[in-house]
Amino acid sequence: MEQFYVIKGGIPLVGEVEIGGAKNAALAILAAAIMADETVTIENLPNVRDINVLLDAMREIGVKVDRLDAHTVKINGSMIQELCVEYEFIKKIRASYYLLGALLGKYNHAEVALPGGCDIGSRPIDLHLKGFRALGADVKIQYGLIVAHAERLAGTHIYLDKVSVGATINIMMAASMAEGKTIIENAAKEPHVVDVANFLNRMGANIRGAGTDVIRIVGVRKLHATEYSIIPDQIEAGTFMFAAAATKGDVTVKNVIPKHLEATSAKLIEIGCEVEEFDDAVRVVSSKPMRHTQVTTLAYPGFPTDMQPQMSVLLGIAQGTSTVTESIFENRFRYVDELTRMGASIKVESSIAIINGISNYMGARVSAPDLRAGAALVIAGLAADGVTVVDNIYYIERGYEDFEKKLSELGAQIEKVSSEKEIQKFTLKVG
Ligand code: UD1
Repeated sequence: MEQFYVIKGGIPLVGEVEIGGAKNAALAILAAAIMADETVTIENLPNVRDINVLLDAMREIGVKVDRLDAHTVKINGSMIQELCVEYEFIKKIRASYYLLGALLGKYNHAEVALPGGCDIGSRPIDLHLKGFRALGADVKIQYGLIVAHAERLAGTHIYLDKVSVGATINIMMAASMAEGKTIIENAAKEPHVVDVANFLNRMGANIRGAGTDVIRIVGVRKLHATEYSIIPDQIEAGTFMFAAAATKGDVTVKNVIPKHLEATSAKLIEIGCEVEEFDDAVRVVSSKPMRHTQVTTLAYPGFPTDMQPQMSVLLGIAQGTSTVTESIFENRFRYVDELTRMGASIKVESSIAIINGISNYMGARVSAPDLRAGAALVIAGLAADGVTVVDNIYYIERGYEDFEKKLSELGAQIEKVSSEKEIQKFTLKVG
């Protein structure tokens, strides 16, 4: 059943919001958990679609998955019978490719469907495969499957040509159970890379240097049981911070690691918002007109590409001309046409969006082209004059838990509906 968000904009968001566990850390940590033959307990799991699809893929290969509650799961990988992950799962969620590194490390063999095209541009996995080959695996593409096999995986020196979160994590997992020492150079430094390394170490792995661009791993023969709580989601946090700014609100975003939000906070301050940092919270107050700026997406600690659409939405109603340069993914401006329907004045030239700020968006019917752009369109709707309907919210639910509920608790007028009739009812109700 198709569902929509329907939003009456123009209400400043005020109050407090709790941030959940990081989806991108959780995806890798769940996959890594199957490398132990003992039971691993994972807490602070976000209850979002991508996570549930990965858990299904894991069950399918024989992993025992016990969901204790929405945010806690027990994983036991001692009874895996299948080393092949089908396309059905990969199609729904690319990050199932983390099972490649996990299975290869543990069993010296893995077969995972090759990820298809994606909505934010071509997303190759050549670096993942290069890493597996360097560890001694024979990697072939056969009938749409990546088949990786090794007589023995042996530690090695790997230089990643490009900073890649996925390749760094996948290689780190496989190398954790290889023989000897692996060095990954030009590694990604994202907080979730560190979280996965911490988790693997808690299971008995020997990984040093995660969070810097050189990661050193000494392989171990076995990984064991542990309990682990996932770090807060910096992108969910950033999204609420930007929603506060766009609506001239005052929101305290709780259960965050402010250090992970520095690039996001810095841009908010630059455009005229106030950001106050606490030990595990940040407060965003937006009381003055926002100013233009320049932003370029970069690997961590740079400005995250996953916050790029939300940033453009803010700059779309900031004074003056701004530029947003996308340097990570080639096709991440697909939301611009939707935002234009809401009155935005944005021109995209290759990887740069040139944004002329308007006074405000006008409510319109728009369609979420992907996860983060979908969240960005919701932010535009929260700021806009009138009613906005966002279609394809399936994408948003891949990564945001209770999005409309959390926004409603901050005062937003937003509902999730499933028919045209309900949209009309909402419109009549809000006047
Ligand atoms: C992860 C995040 C995604 C985020 C991205 C960048 C998950 C599940 N997803 O995606 O939300 O937007 O990091 O922070 O954690 N590349 C190659 N060859 C490869 C791998 C990557 O050329 O083998 C390129 C990509 O096309 C891209 C760049 O490297 O231009 C960075 O991609 P990468 O960091 O790997 O992104 P993901 O891990 O896919």
